[in-house]
Amino acid sequence: MYRTHTCGELNASFAGQEVTLSGWVNRIRKLGGLVFIDLRDRYGVTQMTIDPQSDALAIEGGDLEGIKSEFVLQIIGKVVARPETMINRGMVTGEIEIQPSVVKILSTCAELPFTIDNENPVGEELRLEYRYLDLRRKTLRDTMMTRHSLFTHTINFFDQEGFLYLETPCFTKNTPEGSREFVVPARFDQGKFFVLPQSPQQYKQMLMVAGYDKYIQMARCFRDEDPRGDRQPEFTQVDFEMSFVEQEDVLELMQAYFLDLTPRFPEKVLKNIEFPRYKWKDAMNDYGSDKPDLRIEGMKFVDVTERSRTVDFALFKEVECVKCLVAPKEFSRGEIEKTLDPVIKENGGKGLLYLILSAEGPKGSLAKFLNQDQLNELINLSGAQQGESLFFQVGERIGVVSLLGALRIKLLKELHLLEDKQDFLDFAFVIDAPMFEIGSDGGLGAVHHPFTKPKDEFVPYLLELAEKMRGGYQLSDEDKKKLTSMESDSYDVIANGYEIGGGSIRIHDQKLQHAIFTILGLEEEDIQMRFGHLLKCFTFGVPPHGGCAFGFDRIVMIYQNKENIREVIAFPKNQKYRDPMFGSPSVVDDQLLLDLGLEIIEKK
Ligand code: AMO
Repeated sequence: MYRTHTCGELNASFAGQEVTLSGWVNRIRKLGGLVFIDLRDRYGVTQMTIDPQSDALAIEGGDLEGIKSEFVLQIIGKVVARPETMINRGMVTGEIEIQPSVVKILSTCAELPFTIDNENPVGEELRLEYRYLDLRRKTLRDTMMTRHSLFTHTINFFDQEGFLYLETPCFTKNTPEGSREFVVPARFDQGKFFVLPQSPQQYKQMLMVAGYDKYIQMARCFRDEDPRGDRQPEFTQVDFEMSFVEQEDVLELMQAYFLDLTPRFPEKVLKNIEFPRYKWKDAMNDYGSDKPDLRIEGMKFVDVTERSRTVDFALFKEVECVKCLVAPKEFSRGEIEKTLDPVIKENGGKGLLYLILSAEGPKGSLAKFLNQDQLNELINLSGAQQGESLFFQVGERIGVVSLLGALRIKLLKELHLLEDKQDFLDFAFVIDAPMFEIGSDGGLGAVHHPFTKPKDEFVPYLLELAEKMRGGYQLSDEDKKKLTSMESDSYDVIANGYEIGGGSIRIHDQKLQHAIFTILGLEEEDIQMRFGHLLKCFTFGVPPHGGCAFGFDRIVMIYQNKENIREVIAFPKNQKYRDPMFGSPSVVDDQLLLDLGLEIIEKK
């Protein structure tokens, strides 16, 4: 038997017993003729005190002198209670030490690329290359344990709510949810491909048709989209779906999940037991984001469009929107130009218009264009006080809010406004997102996904429009305007500036689903090729249904106060979506390519 106990469980009540422990050498040191080894496993650390001169000591597999950090040892020895003065209250096993009779070297360890016992900062690339060593370090180990308990909590919660855990395939056909997909060539059907699922969206809807009215899965999802601090190409969703529900039922369940979870983290401060709801349109207008960080009260944008129309200033003339954001600091021009203006430019804006409300009066790029009365009026409208700064953006509404939104995020960091709020959890629902948007290619796309139900009042128009389009009608600018302002029965749950879950009530009427595909610009043949299976399924008795998916990795992030998703995943990909440990992606054998009927063509 390799061990009778773990390295994290022995205390004074075991004194006098002979035990066997196995683990890694966390630290080895010599002192006063004795050798102290801290032996570590995932449960904790136990101290061995070895007298090298003792006749009762046997060293197997090497010699004591040769033992180094991270060797794997098996130790047989007696548990000895430490004298009162030697008790280490900082350690669970601090009341005892082991006096070994046998020290067996099970495995040696090569020179380490970084230390394990003290967590000196190490470059991320090196940590990822030696992830198995990184995972030995306490911080990551603690995170993995939290991840595990979040996982079991999630399963238990949904189990108690009557959900059925079902797995859906990873080899599938595309689920258009906005990202590029990873493809898997099919050897037995050359020239054809499976696609890894962006989410199990269509399968879970089919499970509803099958009558499994409450489904849950910790689903692996795959998306080939631009990297970000809260994204990975493969990640885990808490994916669930329910039949015979309305939006209110799903929101209630989502809220209940987080209310049940949070008390398990006593340090967390939950701001609202009833999660506030923001309409998507209002969140965008007030914060320039569909996932605003609401831990800071206020710092909402103030709309001064109406007032600015009467000001004789060329930049304010004939623009759709003028908004401002008040920052609780009297910035200097230098600070604004060095740190804040670049945020606007990096996000595609022209620059910042600003007013610094100093004791001598308003200063800044806008001050010279307006007279005193106009300035006072704008300042009054904004509610800004002396000692604060006011930042303006002017132009099309969507551009104005997204630039000010980026500035708001920068200001929260720059002013250290979140530093004492690390343990705040500020949940909210963002509901009623638009059904459609104009994509970067100018085409119409679904904001959530095309299975989301538009608000009831738009259904007759959509059915009629699709009918016309099937007869050759092309969408007019007027149609596009109407479509992009149309709300859907969608909801996201956000916390601390992250979107941690998204879902919707689904279309369960086959005709409406078909109409949405048509309006999204798909030809009939394409619809049948891509979605024929779903449309066919939807002819066989479809219950009204809805659901949601939480980003499980993001949940771990917010409960563990991690700003990067890679800190909460055992084996994540790096910032370029590569794996420095395996060296993947990598080339494959020519024979494999041949079997798959594939040829690599170098990109010019
Ligand atoms: P959505 O695309 O909003 O919805 O995804 C749900 C949640 O998954 C998380 N998430 C990610 N986490 C890490 N890395 C990524 N690349 C990533 N992309 C998304 C987010 C997000 O809120 N099928 C729908 C759900 C539904 O309608 O039921 C879906 O996947 O936290």
